[in-house]
Formats: sequence, C-alpha cells, structure tokens
Amino acid sequence: MSIVLKNISKSYGSIQVFNDFNLEITKNQITCILGASGVGKTTLLNILLGLVEVDSGQVLGLEGKKIVAVFQEDRLVESLSSIKNVQLACNNKVTRTKLIDEFNKVGLGGFEDRPVSELSGGMKRRVAILRAVLSESDVIVMDEPFKGLDVELKSKIIEYVKDKTRNKTVIIVTHSLAEVKELEANKVDLTFTKNNHSVIMNEY
Ligand SMILES: Nc1ncnc2c1ncn2[C@@H]1O[C@H](COP(=O)(O)OP(=O)(O)OP(=O)(O)O)[C@@H](O)[C@H]1O
Ligand SMILES: [Mg+2]
Repeated sequence: MSIVLKNISKSYGSIQVFNDFNLEITKNQITCILGASGVGKTTLLNILLGLVEVDSGQVLGLEGKKIVAVFQEDRLVESLSSIKNVQLACNNKVTRTKLIDEFNKVGLGGFEDRPVSELSGGMKRRVAILRAVLSESDVIVMDEPFKGLDVELKSKIIEYVKDKTRNKTVIIVTHSLAEVKELEANKVDLTFTKNNHSVIMNEY
C-alpha cells in the first residue's frame, strides 16, 4: 500500500503551510521532495513521522509501520561514539564487525569510536545516514541528507543509500535535481502547492 496524504491542512498561527493538500507516495521506491525554503518540506516529513499534528486531513498507509529518519539537523547523541549512536538505533542487533564494514563503505573507517562531537558536519551527516539505513524500518525519511558532502563523496553515499534501501519506501528532501537523477527517484515539487493545491509527481 502506498502512503496517502489526504486533504491535509496545516497552519502555524497565521502561516498556512498546507491547504487541502493531497499526495500519494509510491511504496518501495525513492521519492524526492523539492521546493523553495520555507515551503513545507520538513513539515511534511514531520507529519509523516507523527511529530506534527495536522489541523485536518488524514495520513493513510503508515498504520503499524516503523519509520526512521535522517533529520535536517542530525539529532545524534553528541557525547557518544559514532558507532554507539548506530548500535543504539539497531537495538544492538548488528555486530561491531559488520558495523565497521559499513563505516568503511561511507568513508568513516577509523572514526567509529570517536565521540560525535569531534566529527565534522559531513561526517555527522554520514553517521545519521548509517543510523537510518541500518535500523529496522518500513519507511525511511531523510531531510537534505547529502548536505555538506563534496561532489565525489556525495555520489558514493547516494550509491550506498540506493543499495541499502532497495525495495524500501524512502522519502528524501533535497534542493538538487542532480540528486533526484542520481537517486533515480520520483519527484514531488511542493512549490506548486501554494496556489493551486496540486503537486507534480513525475516518475524519473
Ligand atoms: N514549529 C513551528 N512554528 C511556527 N512556524 C513553523 C514551525 N515549523 C515550521 N514553521 C513555518 O512553516 C513553514 C514551513 O517550514 P518548513 O521547515 O517545513 O520548511 P522547509 O521547506 O523545510 O524549508 P527549508 O528548505 O528551509 O528547510 C515556514 O514558513 C516556517 O516558518
Ligand atoms: Mg526543512
């Protein structure tokens, strides 16, 4: 079953973010959410995560599903090591050896035992990505996950995310059409929601 947002309205005080908004997100594929800053991309993810309550409307297709997230601002436990951050999210079910292998794949080999507070922004981003893709989940949402990565590294991480999330429902917020292309993702542009209440959804 796909994820359906049905007649969603959401305002913060006088700021109306969604007005009778409808969207169907295809399951087991990657869908990218685009749109100008402030249009409501993070709000949309927070609605899916159940962190923001809508004023009216329904979200269907997520009943009993486990959703994990890469938040816009990492939300890692800064005082713990990077590997511990990932282990906690995996309920300690994945072995250290296996995790070290995954750290190597994203260019973080040797940084497993460093506290997150000592990592660069791009390194923290990759720990947040590892935490999300290595957790058990049905749906993964990611808010600008590749921000702060240089072009070469970004391509490597995009391939890693594609590989790890095959046949999973993944929703990725991005400002980059190049990323949509590399991810071979569906594209939803929220820029058009403001005026005509409809969105454009294209299969790549
Ligand atoms: N907790 C909040 N309280 C009040 N207003 C909020 C809150 N969260 C978001 N907004 C407002 O809702 C609108 C959408 O914000 P949102 O964070 O969803 O945008 P965005 O598309 O993710 O932007 P960006 O690309 O800058 O991350 C903005 O006008 C923002 O000011
Ligand atoms: Mg945002």
